[in-house]
Amino acid sequence: MNLVVIGAQWGDEGKGKIVDFLAERADVIVRFSGGANAGHTIVHGNVTYKLHLVPSGVIYPDRKVVLGIGMVIDPESLFTELDTLTQQGIDWKGRVFIADRAHLVLPRYRELDVEMEQKRRRPIGTTGRGIGVAYALKSSREGIRVADVYDEEAFASLLEEDRAYLLPYKEKMKDMVVDLPSFMHRHKGQVVLFEGAQGTLLDLDLGTYPFVSSGMSAAAGAACGSGVGPRGIDKILGVFKAYSTRVGNGPFPSEFQKDVDGSLEELVRETGREYGVTTGRPRRCGYLDLVALRYACRVNSIDGLVLTHLDVYDTLDEVKACVAYEVDGKEITDFPASISALNRARPVTKTLKGWKKPLAGAAFFDELPSEAKDYIKFIEDFTETGVDIVSVGCERKQTITRRSPWTPY
Ligand code: GDP
Ligand code: IMO
Ligand code: MG
Repeated sequence: MNLVVIGAQWGDEGKGKIVDFLAERADVIVRFSGGANAGHTIVHGNVTYKLHLVPSGVIYPDRKVVLGIGMVIDPESLFTELDTLTQQGIDWKGRVFIADRAHLVLPRYRELDVEMEQKRRRPIGTTGRGIGVAYALKSSREGIRVADVYDEEAFASLLEEDRAYLLPYKEKMKDMVVDLPSFMHRHKGQVVLFEGAQGTLLDLDLGTYPFVSSGMSAAAGAACGSGVGPRGIDKILGVFKAYSTRVGNGPFPSEFQKDVDGSLEELVRETGREYGVTTGRPRRCGYLDLVALRYACRVNSIDGLVLTHLDVYDTLDEVKACVAYEVDGKEITDFPASISALNRARPVTKTLKGWKKPLAGAAFFDELPSEAKDYIKFIEDFTETGVDIVSVGCERKQTITRRSPWTPY
C-alpha cells in the first residue's frame, strides 16, 4: 500500500508526528519534496528529534527511509543531522537511502538565497537554506544531481570549488545512493509512506504564490518526487491543525487580530509552542481557515483528514472557524489566487462552544467531549472530508485513530 501524508495548510501541521505514528506499520518511508527548510518534530518521552532532511520513520529501528527525487539535499546539513541522530541513539546506518535523481544544495546557494531575499520587491521570509536557488537551478537545467557526483563526465564539468566541496560527500554518500524508481519497483506490495514537507499553501503551483516555497509540497508531488506514477498512490491523508499558522510573509486571511481577538494569538503560540523548528521564528497564528482547508482537500484529492493540536484549544469558552472571506463587501467561499484579494479578505467566522476539558489523555474518539466532536463534525461537513485521525498531544500515543488509515479508499 502506498500512503501519502501531506500538509493541508502552510506547513508545521504535525506531519512529522503523524508519519512517525504511521511508520509503525510501514516498511519504507520516502520524503518526496523540500529540503532543510523543513523542520519535523518527533517527541518520545523526554527525547525530541528534530528532522530537516531525514524522513520521520527513521526513529523506528528497522525502517528503510529514502530522501526522494523531488528533494533538494544539502549534504552538510544531512550529515550533521545524521550525527545528531547517532548521538540520540538512533542506528541509521544501512537504512537511509538517497535518490540519485535528487538535486544537491551547495553552500553558495545558501548565500545567494539570503542575497536574493534582501533584494526582493516582496520579501518572502525564506529560511535561507538555499532551497529556492536549488529549485531555480534545477528548472533552468543548471542544477547538480546526486547522480552527477558519480558520473565522471558530469563531475568534471563542475566548478573546481564545487568539486572540492563535494568530494568528501562522494565517499560518505556512496553506499546510500539508489535509483529510486527501481527501488520502488522492488518494494512494490510493501507498505510505503510518502512524507510531504511544507504544506499545500506553500506549494509552488497551488500555494499563495509568490509567498511559497519552491518544491511540489502537494499530493501530486508524491508521485513525481518518488518515482511512482499517480495511479500507484492508494490513499492521501491531509494533516491540519485545529487552528492555522504561517511562518514568514504572505497573506493569512484568518490571522488573529489583537484588537478583535485579544490575547488569543499569545495563548495559541505558547500552548502550541508555535516557534519554527528550523529558524526559531514565532509562527503567526489564526483561526482554522476552512475556505483554505476545503481548497486543500480538493487540489490534493484528500481521502482523509488528520486533525492535530486539538488540545491547544482546551481552555477556550468558544471556538471559531473561518467559513468565508469578505472581500470588497462580497462574501466568497472559494480560495482566490489574487494575493491582494487575500490581503483584503476579512474572515467570516462561525462560533462553536468550547469543551473546556483537557484532551491530552483521550485514547478513543468516544472519550472526546461532545463540543470537540461538534467542532470535528463541522469541519467534516464543510470540507466534505472525514477526519480519520485526531492528535491531542505531541507524543506518539496521543493519537486517536477513528478510521483505519490502512483501508484503501
Ligand atoms: P511538521 O513540520 O508538520 O512536522 O510540524 P512541526 O514539527 O514543525 O510542528 C509541529 C509541532 O507541534 C511540534 O512541536 C510537535 O511536537 C507538536 N505537535 C504535533 N502534534 C501535536 C498535537 O496534537 N498537540 C500538540 N500540543 N502539539 C503537537
Ligand atoms: P515543514 O515541512 C513552515 C516557508 C518559509 C517561507 C517560505 C519560503 O516544517 O512544514 P524557503 O526557505 O522554502 O524558500 O521559504 O516557506 N517554509 C515553511 N513554513 N513549514 C515548513 O516546512 C516550511 N518550509 C518553508 O518560512 O515563508
Ligand atoms: Mg515544521
